Amino acid sequence: MSTMLSISKLNVRYGHIEALRDIDIEADEGEIYSIIGSNGAGKTSLLKAVSGLVKPQSGVIKFNGEVLSSKPYKIVEKGIVHVPEGRKTFSGLTIKDNLLIGGYLSSGKDLNERLEKQYKLFPILKDRSAQHAGTLSGGEQQMLAISRGLMGNPKMILLDEPSLGLAPIIVNQIYDLIKQIRESGITVFLVEQNARKALSICDKACVLENGRIVLRGNGQELLKSEQVKKAYLGG
Ligand SMILES: Nc1ncnc2c1ncn2[C@@H]1O[C@H](COP(=O)(O)OP(=O)(O)O)[C@@H](O)[C@H]1O
Ligand SMILES: [Mg+2]
Repeated sequence: MSTMLSISKLNVRYGHIEALRDIDIEADEGEIYSIIGSNGAGKTSLLKAVSGLVKPQSGVIKFNGEVLSSKPYKIVEKGIVHVPEGRKTFSGLTIKDNLLIGGYLSSGKDLNERLEKQYKLFPILKDRSAQHAGTLSGGEQQMLAISRGLMGNPKMILLDEPSLGLAPIIVNQIYDLIKQIRESGITVFLVEQNARKALSICDKACVLENGRIVLRGNGQELLKSEQVKKAYLGG
């Protein structure tokens, strides 16, 4: 497997707050890479650094061997899409318009094909395409947010706490969808507080605490780790 995303010696600060300290991560093409950590650990900052939404203090981020631009739109063009924490769908716009925004780099027939592909994957979004996104339930909005990301035809998708605030049965649906995304050939970079779910699904993972990586391994190893069990799996 070849390395798709390579992050080295990444530091992110907000004024005097050190959000990320010397982060090194390598995620391979075709895998699900999970980063688990509690609130404030630095997970969102890490995704924002990759997608160009925050400017790192120092460090290098490479995608398929090439140093990533610091401009968000160029990063999207390279094939990285970011599905933000808290869905951030446009509640006053229709579901269809939300999806079209995700496909803004495309147009015409290609854009239509992308839309049809998403409607096939998410029939509920097709049935309700003319309704405002704000009428969807939390789980449906998460699906819309992911679907909007897929409209960008990414090579890698960054998912920020897709299970946050959702009932367990809906979380299972979202995780089935994440597996399907990986099976379709898209590399998944997933950050979660929900350690059990994120570790069960992933190939490789690391644990982020106070902006530093304190543990790494494959998902099964970390699920068995005493340190992880105690801090993240309720004993
Ligand atoms: N825009 C910001 N300005 C100042 N501090 C921030 C900002 N965003 C995040 N932080 C701080 O950086 C740290 C990491 O935050 P974040 O990346 O959001 O963590 P997580 O997503 O794991 O909850 C926290 O201490 C948070 O308060
Ligand atoms: Mg966050």
